[in-house]
Amino acid sequence: MSVRNISKEALAGSITLGVVFVAGYFFGKKKSSTMSISKSHCGGKDNPLLQYVLNHSMREHPVLKSLRLRTMEDSWSIMMVACEQSQLMANLARLIKAKKALEIGVYTGYNTLNMALALPDDGVLVACDISEEYTNIGKPFWKEAGVEHKIDLRIQPALKTLDDLLSASQAETFDFVFIDADKVNYDSYYEKSLQLLRKGGIIAVDNVLWGGKVINPAPDDQDTVAIDKLNKKLHRDTRINLSMLTVGDGVTLAIKL
Ligand SMILES: C[S@@+](CC[C@H](N)C(=O)[O-])C[C@H]1O[C@@H](n2cnc3c(N)ncnc32)[C@H](O)[C@@H]1O
Ligand SMILES: *[C@@H]1O[C@H](CO)[C@@H](O)[C@H](O)[C@H]1NC(C)=O
Ligand SMILES: *[C@@H]1O[C@H](CO)[C@@H](O)[C@H](O)[C@H]1NC(C)=O
Repeated sequence: MSVRNISKEALAGSITLGVVFVAGYFFGKKKSSTMSISKSHCGGKDNPLLQYVLNHSMREHPVLKSLRLRTMEDSWSIMMVACEQSQLMANLARLIKAKKALEIGVYTGYNTLNMALALPDDGVLVACDISEEYTNIGKPFWKEAGVEHKIDLRIQPALKTLDDLLSASQAETFDFVFIDADKVNYDSYYEKSLQLLRKGGIIAVDNVLWGGKVINPAPDDQDTVAIDKLNKKLHRDTRINLSMLTVGDGVTLAIKL
């Protein structure tokens, strides 16, 4: 089923699983899936338990809410991070007193805004995307929330930005990284991010369950194979401690030792 066939209502509510669409994210490539935990855009419409969780935990900044509603009008809104996952990551960033963060894959910048709100006034979030079209949707909201000065948006392939940061002697200086862009580059994003991260810093890797496809990856499905390979590698990686969480489409937290 194409992303465009999903009703507006479903998008505005939640994409809750058992149903299932993990996005046809990139360049119109379509994905469908049969198994997933929950991908909530703060609705939980078809999942009362998720609705209960959201009803009893979300504390969404008013400008974040406006950006979420604006994002729901976009045809690729399924790409947006789950709001409760974004809140979790913002809480973790505060917990470790993050001042410097990195986001790989911005889209309309919902999580970018949440992360920027969690950083101190002199904090910096390097935000990587290749699309002006998507990121331009978020910019006015970043400004409205008074955090645009913390967001250093770089429009070019994220690998290039990570290499730029490494060349600029920024290794071991980042506190928090969120990896949420093209899946085939996940391993490279992880390796470069780990170099950029300080000890005790956190990398959050999104979509680690990929709608359930990781259980039995089709050999010709490059995205699923890449995610499954990285999942297996992280499990044995002695450079980190980790937790794989079933929030959203699955997120792994890797803490640098
Ligand atoms: C799943 S979305 C990101 C969602 C976002 N983190 C949020 O909080 O809503 C993935 C984004 O990665 C971007 N992207 C795809 N390939 C990329 C690349 N090579 N470098 C940087 N960004 C890329 C896409 O343009 C898209 O905006
Ligand atoms: C969640 O809140 C909405 C809006 O107040 C309400 O309609 C819904 O019944 C609540 N659901 C649960 C499970 O708490
Ligand atoms: C984290 O890693 C350290 C060092 O390898 C290990 O001793 C510790 O048991 C790990 N903690 C958890 C909760 O996995």
